[in-house]
Amino acid sequence: MNNLVSLTRDGDVAIITVNNPPVNALSPGVPEGIAEAVRAIAKDDQVKAAVLIGGGRTFIAGADIREFGKLRESGGGEFGLPHYLIEIEDSRKPIVCAIHGTAFGGGLETAMAAHYRVAVASAQVGQPEVKLGLIPGAHGTQRLPRLGGVQKALEMCAGGDPVKAPEALACGIIDKIIDGDLLAGAVAFAREVADQPAPRTRERNGKLTADLSVFAAARETAAKKQRGFIAPLKAIEAVEAAVTQPWLEGIATENRLFQETLASDQSKALIHVFFGEREVAKIPAVPAETPVLPVRSIAVIGAGTMGGGIAMVFANAGISVLLKETEQAALDRGMATIQKNYATSVAKGRFTQAAMDERLSRVHPQLGWDGFESVDMVIEAVFEGMALKKEIFAQLDKICRKDAILASNTSTLSIDEIASATTRPEMVIGTHFFSPANVMRLLELVRGAATSKEVIQTCMLLAKKIGKIGVLVGNCRGFVGNRMFHTYRREAQFMAEEGAAPEAIDKVMYKFGMAMGPLATGDLAGLDVGWRIRQEFRHTEVPGVRYTKAEDALCEMGRYGQKTKAGWYQYDENRKSMPDPVVAEVVKRVAEENQIPQHAIDDQEILDRLIYALVNEGAKILEEGFALRPVDIDIIYLNGYGFPAHRGGPMFYADLVGLKKVYARICEFEKHDGYWWKPAPLLKKLAEEGGSFATWKRR
Ligand code: NAI
Repeated sequence: MNNLVSLTRDGDVAIITVNNPPVNALSPGVPEGIAEAVRAIAKDDQVKAAVLIGGGRTFIAGADIREFGKLRESGGGEFGLPHYLIEIEDSRKPIVCAIHGTAFGGGLETAMAAHYRVAVASAQVGQPEVKLGLIPGAHGTQRLPRLGGVQKALEMCAGGDPVKAPEALACGIIDKIIDGDLLAGAVAFAREVADQPAPRTRERNGKLTADLSVFAAARETAAKKQRGFIAPLKAIEAVEAAVTQPWLEGIATENRLFQETLASDQSKALIHVFFGEREVAKIPAVPAETPVLPVRSIAVIGAGTMGGGIAMVFANAGISVLLKETEQAALDRGMATIQKNYATSVAKGRFTQAAMDERLSRVHPQLGWDGFESVDMVIEAVFEGMALKKEIFAQLDKICRKDAILASNTSTLSIDEIASATTRPEMVIGTHFFSPANVMRLLELVRGAATSKEVIQTCMLLAKKIGKIGVLVGNCRGFVGNRMFHTYRREAQFMAEEGAAPEAIDKVMYKFGMAMGPLATGDLAGLDVGWRIRQEFRHTEVPGVRYTKAEDALCEMGRYGQKTKAGWYQYDENRKSMPDPVVAEVVKRVAEENQIPQHAIDDQEILDRLIYALVNEGAKILEEGFALRPVDIDIIYLNGYGFPAHRGGPMFYADLVGLKKVYARICEFEKHDGYWWKPAPLLKKLAEEGGSFATWKRR
């Protein structure tokens, strides 16, 4: 047909094969090729039925995501796939789709336009468009309820999660599971149905009866589980149209809703995130062919909050872990926590008791240094103190193999200074996990001045192996994520001191889509951590500059946050927060003592000061070279700080607002607070040139 679709024959059954590696995406040429094959089959008297199959490792895995951007730029325009699908459905000779691997998005829509679907048991089908801020646009929301029923269609189109072949068979999305050779089985199936009239999915209305309350229930679920996301609600509306409207009206409704989601900022943001997650894996200075060191066994030092979580991450990935502590009691506590966390997972049905036992057996608790001479990598996660870390690294330098990677989980200290305690700074790197380490996806990999390319490459690939998103960052105070977060929390505290209620500040960010606001986050993490650091660095404070005071006052009262049941809020036994009149008094007193002018702060000011603090610091970090690209910052924020994916990350958000506007607002803030709000030179330059972070290139 063309170079993407071939047509062959097995007796009276035609075989249409899609060959668009690696995943047979519906790139331009694929739908055209299939339609052309269908036309050829119609004319061929020797053919009675056809099989449509994917060459290589999968059926059509979905749309070519780059095409969505092009489609949007062309103003939506005429979207071709639905028309080709009608051509397939109108074939008088039955077409059987043979599914292996995945039939997602346009892949499932193609399969549903055919007359029958058979699949291997391991195949999966799904309509994951909502994960890109879209809804199915090629009749998926109209054909899926006709095959799988309204409830299943709602779950799949609004939730976006895949369904395995046996479940797809049970609800009617597929007709048969093929054991053994898929093509042979599909051809045999095609022969069986060759003489029967080819059933058109769009005419199968038997399953379209639904109690209308299912739509209200689906909306409620979406509002809870996908808070702030628009596409799931549009997907529900489209599925509802399948029930309440005849086919032609239903597909028109779907098309209108699809175009709306395509034009939405949310789909732009989520597609940016999709490509961003792949982009961050590419390090320009570290070519793909850089040699990789084997990591078969590791040692973790410190079995506290982070060390225990890190040990679990590696044990889960099948890597054996020596877990070292200095005292038996701390070791026992650490192991008990690991055990408890695993037991919770078993109780929730995430894995079996046998899997838990296997994972636990990979963690070897110990007090001494035995075995350190043979491990491939060590991750240090002891208390945050330079002297202690240097002592440990000097010791590791003596006992570990010369080619062992020596990593620190420090969240603030200089990797270069830690590395200076060794004779091999090229083997030293920061592996900054986020808490809880076994849950959070982000792993900031901190490159020291001497860290070798092999060590970077190994850790980037290792991140993937242990289920994390590795983002390479430079060695500055707080690295990328915390350096920015510091400015964000500072502004939140400043606003509280200027008279904004803590709950008003947090509510703005919750509504923006964050899991919680900046002051509630402080309470969760523990206010005392920052307080201790501020005390240590008091000597570096610049006279005449404003520093946060209210949080220190809260800590002085023993209000450390959730762990003391009081911080910016008061907490009940179930950790439910409530505003606390004491806080209002403390903040008022602090403001008076420090002569902080009070003013009314509206929601827009709260939002702008918090987000632009992130953006301004992000721009400085970029310019100073501590983050490789704006998208690296976005991916860090989405995976480590609960920034809502549908906003695309702080830098993407700034681009959407427009850098000119962002810069102008920062200049306004600078008038009131010149020290903290100095605009980043890069932001100023881009704003003046009419540029954006997306188009910025490092020279
Ligand atoms: P933690 O206080 O929970 O655990 C530290 C553990 O190290 C304790 O169990 C302690 O007994 C042990 N330890 C101390 N000296 C030791 C030594 N010489 N040999 C072996 N074990 C020793 O502290 P946490 O929170 O786990 O922090 C560890 C590191 O991770 C710090 O560098 C911290 O800055 C960093 N980090 C912490 C995050 C957090 O949210 N807690 C997030 C990211 C990084």
